[in-house]
Amino acid sequence: MCGIIAFTGNQAAAPILLDGLRRLEYRGYDSAGICVFNRKKLYNWKSSGKLSALESLLPDSILGSTGIGHTRWATHGAPTNENAHPHVDTTGRIAVVHNGIIENVDSLRLSLLPAKTALLSETDTEILAHAIAHTATKQGGPLIDAVRTVLRQVIGTFGIAVIDRDNPGTLIVARSGSPVILGIGDGEMFAASDVSALSRYTRELVHLDDGEVAELTPQGFTVTTLDASPREKKSTHLQGQLEEHDKAGYAHFLLKEINEQPETVKRAISGRLDEAFSTAHLGGLNLQARDLLDVKRIVILGCGSALYAGMAGAHMIETLARIPATAEAAAEFRYRNPVIEASTLYIAVSQSGETFDTLAAIREIKRKGGFVLGLVNSVGSTIAREVDGGVYMHAGPEVSVASTKAYTSMLTLFALIALLLGRTRDLSVQQGSGLVTSLHNLPVQIDYVLQQHKKIASIAKKIAHSQSAFFIGRTDGYPVALEGAQKLKEISYIHAEAYPASELKHGPLALVTEKTPCVVILQDSDLLAKNISTLEEINARSAPIIAVTDSDEPRIKKLAAHVIDIPKGDALLQPIVMGVALQLLAYHCALHLKRDVDQPRNLAKSVTVE
Ligand code: AGP
Repeated sequence: MCGIIAFTGNQAAAPILLDGLRRLEYRGYDSAGICVFNRKKLYNWKSSGKLSALESLLPDSILGSTGIGHTRWATHGAPTNENAHPHVDTTGRIAVVHNGIIENVDSLRLSLLPAKTALLSETDTEILAHAIAHTATKQGGPLIDAVRTVLRQVIGTFGIAVIDRDNPGTLIVARSGSPVILGIGDGEMFAASDVSALSRYTRELVHLDDGEVAELTPQGFTVTTLDASPREKKSTHLQGQLEEHDKAGYAHFLLKEINEQPETVKRAISGRLDEAFSTAHLGGLNLQARDLLDVKRIVILGCGSALYAGMAGAHMIETLARIPATAEAAAEFRYRNPVIEASTLYIAVSQSGETFDTLAAIREIKRKGGFVLGLVNSVGSTIAREVDGGVYMHAGPEVSVASTKAYTSMLTLFALIALLLGRTRDLSVQQGSGLVTSLHNLPVQIDYVLQQHKKIASIAKKIAHSQSAFFIGRTDGYPVALEGAQKLKEISYIHAEAYPASELKHGPLALVTEKTPCVVILQDSDLLAKNISTLEEINARSAPIIAVTDSDEPRIKKLAAHVIDIPKGDALLQPIVMGVALQLLAYHCALHLKRDVDQPRNLAKSVTVE
C-alpha cells in the first residue's frame, strides 16, 4: 500500500516523479504529493484525492533534479492535505515519504524530538521528518548516519525515501517490511516501492532487503545495514517486454485485464506442458519427482482472491493427485502457532508478491524448517525472492485493484501442479493427456464467455440496484462463488455473500427474498440433481436466479431468471471459465452504478501492511 518514487540525476525530477506516481497509483489513491530540491530549498506540493488533484495544483515547470513522491493509502489519519506525504520537518530541511506503519510514535516523540515540536498532521510518518532533521543537526556528519540512528529506534514497518536541503543530490532510502527497489540509470539513480515505476527508465535493479539503508547520488549508490555494516548488492536485469501502462482502448484497466485472459492463460501454460509424458513441467519448483512423491499434505496460503484461488487449487490437487490439500487465510496462519511438517508442501499464492500477511506466513513456515513454494505474478517481488521455489504467472502487470487475470492464472497454475502431482501418482497417461488437451483449449473456452459480455451486461442492469446478493456453489463451485461475491463487493459495493449450496437452508435462506438475486454455480456433474433442488429452494422464495452453468438440463432454464452459458469442458477447469463470467457480471454492475471500477473506495492493490 502507498507508492514511493524517488529520483536524483541531472534532468528535471518532477516529470519522472509524476510518471512514477501514475504507475503506482493503484497502490493507494487517497492523496499524493511530491517534494523537489531546487536552489537551496525544498518545494513541497501535496493534495488529498487522486493524483489528478495534485497535478492540477502544480506549476507548469518545476526545476530541480532531486525529489521524492508518494501516493497514499491512509493508515494513520484521514486522507487530508495535511496527512498527505511528503512530510517536511519544521525547519524545512528534511522531507520524507513512507510506506508502512510506525508503532512506537509516542516513544519516538519523547526520545527523539525537542519537547516543543509541533506536529502538523495525524500521521505516523511526520515524526520521521522531525526526528531525522533534529538528529542530523545534533549529530552532524552524513545524513545517512542520522537516518540510521532514527530507524534503529523505530518499531514497525517502513519503506522510506528522504531528501535533505543541506545535501543536494543525495537520496536516502531504507527498507524494513515494505519494498524498496533501486534503479540504476546512466548518471542518475531511482528508487521506488514497485518495479512498475522504474521499468520505463532502467532495467538494472537492486532489491533492498529488510534492515538495509541505501545512499543514492547521480553517480551511484552504497548499501549498508542499519548498524552501518557495508552490504554488497548485485543488480538484476529486468527481463521481458516493457508493458505499456495504458488501457489499450478499453474503458477501464479492469475490462482490459478481463479481456486479456485468453492470452494470459496461454502464457501461464506456455512451455510448461509435456505432451510426451502427459504431465506438466515446472522447473522453478526446485523439486525432483522423488521429492514430489514424499509430499503427504499440501497447505496453500493466500489472502483475498489469492485465498479463493488456493481453495480451488486444493480441490484440483485432491481430485487429481489424491493428496490431502487445504487452503488457509495467510493472515491467520502465524497467529495460531501452526504445526509445520517436513512432509507437507506449503504453497503461497500472491499476485503482487508483496502482501504482508502472506509474506509473514512464509517466514513462519521457513523459520520452523518447512518448504514453501510461491505462485507469484510480480517478478522479483519479495515473496518471489524468499520462497524455496515457485512458478511465475506471467500475467503481466495487473493495474486494476480487483484481481482478474492474475486470479485465473493462479487457477491455471494450480491445474498444472495438480497434473504434475497426479502424474507422479495414479493419474493415467490417458487422463493426463485429456487434461493437457483441455488446458490448451482453455483460452478458447474463456473467449466464449467473453463473447457473452452484452448478455451479461443486460443481466447486470437488472440486479445492479439490489441491496444484497447471494453466490451459491457446491464443492469446487464454492470457491467460484466466493470469488464472484468478492468481485461484486469490491467494485460495485453491493453486499454479496457466498455460501456452499448445502449451507443455504442452515441459516441464510432466511434472507432470500424476491429482492436478493442468487447467482448459482451449476456444474454439469453427478451433483446436478442436488443443485437443481437448491434452485427449487431459492425459487420457492421468489429470488431471481442467475444460473452460471455448462449443463443443458431444461429445469435450469425453467427455474432461473437468467442463464449464463458456459461451454462444456474438462470439469477440473470449469471453475476458471465460470469465474470469468462472474468478473463480467461484477464489472457491468459497477459500470451501471457508475463506480470507480479500477480504484474502488477504501482498497489498494498491494496490501503491504498487516
Ligand atoms: C482481489 O480482487 C483483491 N484486490 C485482494 O483480495 C487480493 O487478492 C489480496 O489482497 C491478495 O493480493 P496478492 O495476490 O497481491 O497477494
